[in-house]
Amino acid sequence: MSGSNSVPLIWPVMPLDIGTVRLKNNLLLAPMAGVTDGPFRRMCHEQGAGLTISELASAKAILLGNKTTVSMLHFSGQQRPFAVQLFGHNSADIAAAASFVESLGVCDIIDLNMGCPVSKVVKTGAGAGLMKTPELAETIIRAVRAAVKVPVTVKFRLGWCSGQMNFRDFARMAVDSGVAAITVHARTREAGYSGVADWSKFEGMQDLCGSIPFIANGDITSVDDLKKVHEISGCRGFMIGRAAIGRPWLFNALKKPAGAVLTEPAPAERFRLFREHLVEMLMEHGQKGVPLFRVHLFAYLRGHPRASQFRREMCNQRDPVKVIDAGQRFFLP
Ligand SMILES: Cc1cc2nc3c(=O)[nH]c(=O)nc-3n(C[C@H](O)[C@H](O)[C@H](O)COP(=O)(O)O)c2cc1C
Repeated sequence: MSGSNSVPLIWPVMPLDIGTVRLKNNLLLAPMAGVTDGPFRRMCHEQGAGLTISELASAKAILLGNKTTVSMLHFSGQQRPFAVQLFGHNSADIAAAASFVESLGVCDIIDLNMGCPVSKVVKTGAGAGLMKTPELAETIIRAVRAAVKVPVTVKFRLGWCSGQMNFRDFARMAVDSGVAAITVHARTREAGYSGVADWSKFEGMQDLCGSIPFIANGDITSVDDLKKVHEISGCRGFMIGRAAIGRPWLFNALKKPAGAVLTEPAPAERFRLFREHLVEMLMEHGQKGVPLFRVHLFAYLRGHPRASQFRREMCNQRDPVKVIDAGQRFFLP
């Protein structure tokens, strides 16, 4: 891969320390189940993300040696620093899983998921369910901190629902419990992914977190968004998820002065990245690589006038060579 990590940083993009771990910049790739596997993390790292994070991994499944979950921890030397995100509701399990992951040496940071809205997760009391039980959340954070030496971070939402937005108290609890960074997605569990992220709630959040970096998340897509959310919150970092799907180059593109128009790479470069991503998926996932690539493939085509025709052609295609051929016709007609 030809990296372009040397793109100069322009405020508010700057290096960020999370505990003892120095990130080359404060643009983080959000953890996304089914999306942020090794190949996509490598693409985003190459294209200038300061930190990548695994998909959420069940602490219990790690302790049971579940093959799919353990494979989520897979990393390559190219993509450090790397954080593993764990979820669960039992402090002893999460601490033991964190300690196991640390001893594998596969990551630099352990992130705790306290924001996942999925019913099967929250009904066990994990994910966003922990926002309803902050005492348990605190026990989990303290147990994990005691079990590992690497920095421990936490990611959560504004609260359970619009009537219960306890993110400020939750952030204070997390700071007092010794986390090294706090990320908040500016939606409630009730909102899921609907509506728009409410950055106005972030006012004063960096002050509240004191010396611990506050990382803003939700609907960040442009240089002006970085500026706006930074002005409201004083955040030291930005976490970007969906906007980077099909556009891994977004991280370098965001290192621009405010007001600058985001420039997409030339078609030949986009095709190169598209093909490289698919090849990485094949290397990592074997035959399943092509169907797993679909979520990315359709996102690479977003906004193109012939995108729907290409989608129809590709939706059942399992032959990687045909996908690459079609990609070439699409990007370089
Ligand atoms: C498909 C998908 C999977 C996600 N999986 C996770 C996850 O595993 N852990 C997590 O903390 N958040 C997860 N999220 C939430 C994102 O990390 C992020 O908080 C959210 O998408 C808002 O940021 P964005 O608007 O930049 O995408 C997921 C989001 C999506 C769309």
